[in-house]
Amino acid sequence: MQNTPAHLELVRPDDWHLHLRDGPALAAVLADTAKRFARAIVMPNLKPPVTTVALADAYRQRILAALPAGAEFNPLMTLYLTETTESNEIDAAVASEFVHAVKYYPAGATTNSAAGVSDLKNCTATLARMEKLGLPLLVHGEVTDTAVDIFDREAVFIDTVLSPLRRDFPALKLVLEHITTRQGVDFVMAQDNHVAGTLTAHHLLLNRNALFAGGLRPHNYCLPVLKRETHRQALLAAATSGNPKFFLGTDSAPHAKSTKEAACGCAGCYTANACIELYAQAFDAVGALDRLEGFASFYGADFYDLPRNTTQITLVRESWQIPAALPYLANDPLVPFMAGESILWRLQD
Ligand code: NCD
Ligand code: ZN
Repeated sequence: MQNTPAHLELVRPDDWHLHLRDGPALAAVLADTAKRFARAIVMPNLKPPVTTVALADAYRQRILAALPAGAEFNPLMTLYLTETTESNEIDAAVASEFVHAVKYYPAGATTNSAAGVSDLKNCTATLARMEKLGLPLLVHGEVTDTAVDIFDREAVFIDTVLSPLRRDFPALKLVLEHITTRQGVDFVMAQDNHVAGTLTAHHLLLNRNALFAGGLRPHNYCLPVLKRETHRQALLAAATSGNPKFFLGTDSAPHAKSTKEAACGCAGCYTANACIELYAQAFDAVGALDRLEGFASFYGADFYDLPRNTTQITLVRESWQIPAALPYLANDPLVPFMAGESILWRLQD
């Protein structure tokens, strides 16, 4: 038996993949992240998407304006890659000092990805500029071909898109976001240090059975979809391995209750209200709490060439219940991940 500590002190973590939305939704969710994390890579899949440095600047100002008084939180902005993104936008991004990456959504792969990229061949000049200037490409790694089984879309993407991309741009910094398969883990491990991967708490905690436990569970539905247990085991092994190529990215993705509990429900799990606690629970379950700080607080900053944080947070081993719902939009609440369930670790105020 592992000797589980009652307290866990960590250098304040960062979230390297987060959806903050905009307007009232942003105002409702931002404090959850700002309470736990010093920085977050903010996803650009708004409507319309954040495709330029000017739009990223305006979005960043809205985020800063929505922060609770006294909060110290630095939103790290991203640009949404389209087939018309010009390479001079990459120069502007690097010069801005607040844009830290470019997000590649295969067109149609997920929420608000219609303006994404159908064929990376149309982005050659832009990718070459990113490679030259060291601006990372963050990849939603799924093919969109409906003839490919949804559980195979990540593995097929690796073979048909990612491997050629590595060959064509060997010095391009690349993050395979929200890895959900053993193939994703193996791919990242086999690459040099230009390549890293993020892992979500929900993919570390659940396998695909959780989508159908006693009935259809829309709040466990996200993209890429949960996979079978052997894959979850591979993700957990990667997260707790101490390998700096793997770091924390929550992919917390809020959607109002009525749009999740619907005939065609939205993809996304809201984890920001308990996220570092959920990771602690996943690491604790395999006796690897000593590996949490590197994964949550160090390796991502190192990959992005940013300084590590210096302040701390404390987690206490004390069970609490995740609320059934949180305030979100007028008359439409937000059902968090593991709503109503107990969780073993609590953030000390
Ligand atoms: C995300 C969202 O809702 O914006 N949804 C999700 O299931 N993860 C988009 C994404 O990251 O795929
Ligand atoms: Zn996401």
